[in-house]
Amino acid sequence: MRKLIVLSAISVFVIAAAFLYSCNNNKDAEANSAEDSLKAVVEHGRYLANNVAACIHCHSTRDFNKYSGPVIPGTEGGGGQAFSNKELDVIPGVFYAKNITPDPETGLGSWTDDEILRAMTKGISKNGDTLFPLMPYASFNMMAKEDLLSIVAYLKTLKPIKNAVPARQSMIPMSMAYPVEAVQASIDGNVRPPKTDVVKYGGYLVTVADCAGCHTPFEKGQPDFARMFGGGNTFHFDQFVVTSANISPDSATGIRSWTEEMFVSKFKMYRDHKSYDYDPGKLNTVMPTSDFAGMTDEDLKAIYAYLRTVPPISHKVAKYPE
Ligand code: HEC
Ligand code: HEC
Repeated sequence: MRKLIVLSAISVFVIAAAFLYSCNNNKDAEANSAEDSLKAVVEHGRYLANNVAACIHCHSTRDFNKYSGPVIPGTEGGGGQAFSNKELDVIPGVFYAKNITPDPETGLGSWTDDEILRAMTKGISKNGDTLFPLMPYASFNMMAKEDLLSIVAYLKTLKPIKNAVPARQSMIPMSMAYPVEAVQASIDGNVRPPKTDVVKYGGYLVTVADCAGCHTPFEKGQPDFARMFGGGNTFHFDQFVVTSANISPDSATGIRSWTEEMFVSKFKMYRDHKSYDYDPGKLNTVMPTSDFAGMTDEDLKAIYAYLRTVPPISHKVAKYPE
């Protein structure tokens, strides 16, 4: 009898110990999986900010002595790049990309997540200023909240850079520029289409990357949406002049004849740092090609699939002046 009690006491102890041990193990597992999922969120945000939405491309210093003006390492998110009517005539003045690193004084260090989201998706700065829609916030306004939040999580991992960006010089009152399109008040209902719905998913990426922003011609200072993706905007840089191409599926003037492989390789060939580390002189481009190159094959193919479905626009464009 005594033996039995001792035995059962031992077994209770063993069971309890095993239970406690497994609880602890679960806690460790939970902590590990929380850490893993934060890592995955930041990695997803890094991908979107660098390779799809071009945040880092605009908000850093670019080197136009190299193909497609890659970001100068160490300047990521520090801001200061100027966009003016000198480069593109429809820009009414001079606008500077802001410092979006976590620096508390000159960057976003003191901003809440909601304030960052509001600037990205509604074009309203922390101090209430309306931002000029050169940053495509009307497009970001259609992004899934999950994608937006992963970008915010990634921005917090950037090295803080102390860089006070000069004030913009706008030739028009901001009320004239805003809102370009009515931006929806709540982004909560936005969804990212599943990757299996290739055309829709490709359309989503095209929105996030704002391909239309550069590839839709302007008419009297406004994008001419009837000729979406028809190309024809000319960018003037000291080193080169380039006009955005017609990327609609028109046979004679667009990219109808491009195979999927040709399209994917237009980007993919610049994946390796060495492939754009040269001075193309007058044959340079303003398209962030070396950044888009980092998109996965799957994403590039989805973009191609989507661009096959948009209306063909007959519009002959010469990318480089004769
Ligand atoms: C085409 C270039 C461009 C792209 C792409 C772009 N931005 Fe901007 N961004 C700007 C410019 C220019 C401003 C300032 C506009 C102004 O002064 O009116 C700005 C402003 C901001 C602001 C407001 C900061 C402040 O101090 O008011 C935030 C935040 C921001 N961008 C984050 C982002 C994020 C995140 C992304 C990517 C999802 C992004 N931007 C993509 C050019 C760009
Ligand atoms: C900052 C402006 C800008 C953005 C954003 C942009 N492009 Fe371009 N794109 C250009 C310019 C300028 C050219 C012409 C020079 C060249 O080939 O790079 C071009 C050329 C192209 C070409 C080559 C077409 C041909 O006939 O040679 C393709 C394809 C293309 N873009 C697709 C895209 C896609 C897809 C996106 C969005 C993921 C995009 N572009 C975003 C400016 C831009």
